[in-house]
Amino acid sequence: MAPGPLLAETGYAAWLRYALIDATIRKRYDALPANAVALGDSVIIKTAQAELIRGVRGMLGRTLRAEASVPNESAIVLGTFTSLKPLIPAADFPSHLRKDGFALKAVTLNGFPCLLIAAPNDGGVLYGVFALLSKIARHDSVTSLNEIQEPYAPIRWVNQWDNLNGSIERGYAGRSIFFENGSVRADLERAADYARLLASVGINGCTINNVNADPRILESNFLPQLARVAEVYRPWGVALSISVDLSSPKVIGGLETFDPVDARVGAWWKSKADEIYRQIPDFGGFVVKADSEGRLGPSAYGRTHADAANVIARALEPHGGLVFYRAFVYNHHLDWRDAKNDRAKAAYDNCHPLDGKFDDNAVVQIKNGPIDFQVREPASPLFAGLRRTNEAIELQITQEYTGQQRHLCFLPSMWKEVLDFDLHDDGGRTPVKDLAAGRTSHRPTGGFVGVANVGMDANWLGHPLAMANLYGFGRLAWNPNLSARDIAEEWTKLTFGNDPTVVRTIAAMLLASWHIYESYTGPLGAGTLTDILGSHYGPGIESSERNGWGQWHRANHDGIGMDRSAATGTGFAAQYPSSVAKLYESVQSTPDELLLFFHHVPYTYRLHSGKTVIQHIYDSHYEAAARAENLVRQWSSLKGRVDAERYAEVLARLDYQAGHAIVWRDAVCNWFFRISGIADMHGRVGHYPDRIEAEAMQLQGYTPLDVTSPENASGGRAIVCEGQAQPCQATFRFERAAGLYDLDVEYFDQNNGESKFRVFVGNKKVDEWSAGDHLPATKPGGDSSTRRRITGLTLHPGDEIRIEGIPDGAERAPLDYIEIHAR
Ligand code: GCU
Repeated sequence: MAPGPLLAETGYAAWLRYALIDATIRKRYDALPANAVALGDSVIIKTAQAELIRGVRGMLGRTLRAEASVPNESAIVLGTFTSLKPLIPAADFPSHLRKDGFALKAVTLNGFPCLLIAAPNDGGVLYGVFALLSKIARHDSVTSLNEIQEPYAPIRWVNQWDNLNGSIERGYAGRSIFFENGSVRADLERAADYARLLASVGINGCTINNVNADPRILESNFLPQLARVAEVYRPWGVALSISVDLSSPKVIGGLETFDPVDARVGAWWKSKADEIYRQIPDFGGFVVKADSEGRLGPSAYGRTHADAANVIARALEPHGGLVFYRAFVYNHHLDWRDAKNDRAKAAYDNCHPLDGKFDDNAVVQIKNGPIDFQVREPASPLFAGLRRTNEAIELQITQEYTGQQRHLCFLPSMWKEVLDFDLHDDGGRTPVKDLAAGRTSHRPTGGFVGVANVGMDANWLGHPLAMANLYGFGRLAWNPNLSARDIAEEWTKLTFGNDPTVVRTIAAMLLASWHIYESYTGPLGAGTLTDILGSHYGPGIESSERNGWGQWHRANHDGIGMDRSAATGTGFAAQYPSSVAKLYESVQSTPDELLLFFHHVPYTYRLHSGKTVIQHIYDSHYEAAARAENLVRQWSSLKGRVDAERYAEVLARLDYQAGHAIVWRDAVCNWFFRISGIADMHGRVGHYPDRIEAEAMQLQGYTPLDVTSPENASGGRAIVCEGQAQPCQATFRFERAAGLYDLDVEYFDQNNGESKFRVFVGNKKVDEWSAGDHLPATKPGGDSSTRRRITGLTLHPGDEIRIEGIPDGAERAPLDYIEIHAR
């Protein structure tokens, strides 16, 4: 099938493009009724009807008639079971269906074929409409439908870490869509469109401010602003919620204490909750981060986390609200020298003793792993450690430690491993998804929370392909039994259309991407080897050591890894139910990919794969960098099959990623070579025959600079243009055989200037560009190192190659090296 006309797209429509379907395929939907009947006048039902009309108009080019009662012809009928019952008394509605579930059912009404979208509640009707539209967008048949769907868990929420000043903590796609200059934005159109996107995948709650909460959000003059957000959420069935600071009763409430068991504090929370619900009757509740990373908490008064959660839970309870109490509680001043100390133990140690002590409308929100959203972690043992308490699993959609949306990393692959992981509690089958959803112990509630952090960038998350993570989170929260492949294919069809080549290629890229990213950034469960003290982005291998943050990998001259066994290590492994504890306790039975999370082993230790740890580190980094380059090739094969705008945007990001994967590869491999003293058996590490270091060129105006950490620049050094005479110049002679070559210029693109570069072969300018990206760096290093590729140059022996750099601000046109590859 030839692809249809490709209109330029910004990505704003995400997976709700409703693009016109090719005429021949459109015929399949000719029998779809011409009426959209909405029974009842709730705002959500009306929204569902309008969405149905919008979707059908976009995809099929037909405008359904909006009706409020069933006409004497065929119709799509939207309604709750209660509103449908009088129309079809004989109908056998699935009354056991969970809230938000729905049925899509072909029936005959008054002798006419009709399609029912029926649900126990209004929200379910809306989800049913989105499900029907998704089928059409993916060219699935919608005749003779008879299916029911229901969500796996009641809680399907996202958190946004937006600050009131409009910035977003760990956000990589522009400013906040909710706040600006200390207030809620005047224009909430994007917030409304966001709610629509969320609802389309079944998400029913959204917390709009940073977990490191500004107490001002609870001030009386702020609440009417929040009510405006709730108003644009309401039509989509998305409950508004906010993060609150536990010290609010003191900081903004005028009390002298925030002791959770003090009656005055309880009364304050109660009256605050009443005040909120008077303005926002469908308010969702509060998220609390306490006693963590400098936040105040119940420890100030010697109280427990359950005391803190419950004082808030009791204020919300009469209104049906929930409090999400985060289990991300740990001491970030741990003594690194004490080999028994272990941050991984903190969540369980803090929360497990309180099991059964939390109120029924309190939910303990647990990060998927015991540390902090690293590229690979085992499942948190706390999921099995709270059997008499509501839980929710917290997953991170925003790619804080996984490439910050500059690298492709499809996270549903990772989430699936965690959700499906069986903790074998009580010796039975207790996968994390069931524990978190509250199904194992039949808890009143439970579910899934994703930290999304979308921003004002046109395409919401920065990288067009990163939206697969937001979509995937919603789909897994609805049904964690979907496979990563199902999700990748669905999302691709909805986002880029149904061309089988496009679907196959993008799905393959998505499905490979987590493993690729993991393999050039973090070996064998040692954590993402990034700068944990700053950006959390580029390589920063030593940053996790010798400090109190507890993200230690304990690499030394002899070996690497944290011994977390009970026998000789920190004892973390013993927090798991016995069969899992046994698996991780022994170095032999621990799977390779988590080996260094649980054990300290010599570099010469042989993995199950047969390789030594050190050779695995070298090989995996080289393989993964090559695979990152291959992503560029895969994407390039889609030229002309996806619209030019998104094609170019993704290509630029993938190209950058492929370059940065080499920065990662070299940093990690060189660092481990230096510390272990063991050479790469394939001779790659430390040998770069195609590379000319900038500091080895003939320099005019440029001076060498030692880069810290040295592994983050080739040869440990860069050159910077500090001289008066500008442009500065770096020159060398090409001495290889005549032929066609590609030239990679490795330079540093900081965010405190926009240097310009020009490259000449002899007197001929072959390329020029500005270093105008906004990478998270103010100096040359692993965060700022960037590749410019100049392709198809004809070079002759003796050619003079010259790079000119014009600095700007504090960015001194820094250069690392040039690499020349024969074509
Ligand atoms: C990470 C992240 C912080 C965030 C914290 C949390 O540590 O870097 O920015 O506040 O998680 O989840 O509370």
